[in-house]
Amino acid sequence: MIRQSLLGASLAVTLSANDGAALFDAQCNACHVKYVPVNELMENFMKGKNEKLKLLAPTLNQLNFRIKQMVGDPKGDAEMHRIEVVEFIKDYVIHPDKAKSVCLAEVIDNFETMPSMKGQISESELEAVAEFIYDYTQPEERK
Ligand code: HEC
Repeated sequence: MIRQSLLGASLAVTLSANDGAALFDAQCNACHVKYVPVNELMENFMKGKNEKLKLLAPTLNQLNFRIKQMVGDPKGDAEMHRIEVVEFIKDYVIHPDKAKSVCLAEVIDNFETMPSMKGQISESELEAVAEFIYDYTQPEERK
């Protein structure tokens, strides 16, 4: 009994990177596939209108690449850049608006605006999942 409640308390205060990964799987992965190689994405979106892969949303590797490239100053202070990227993601999930999108028009034009997840995800969960997106590395980079 005591053990269980202690465990519950420590889980509630610290959401680690693993939790971010698990939260992504539970809350985002249904629409955002994790990884599709860039050449396949190019073919799908630049040559066709998403007919080939029929994705429901930009992939995690697209989100990671585009948001880090387009939000804040990728060549500036690394800690500042991380904060800006994490804030962008946290804001988008609660207040989605395609006008704020940093994806290419050829990509984003295939999708309706993401439904807001307001009330479905807590502030600390959102923080953990946004950090996970920031830190995501593509399979070929992991070697
Ligand atoms: C029901 C499907 C769905 C779910 C679930 C979902 N998304 Fe999305 N998301 C979309 C679609 C579609 C887009 C592309 C259209 C847009 O930008 O609004 C998108 C776009 C985004 C963008 C903006 C990218 C850009 O610049 O255009 C972010 C950031 C994002 N999602 C993060 C998340 C996170 C984090 C989660 C989980 C906590 C999540 N999404 C869950 C469908 C979804």
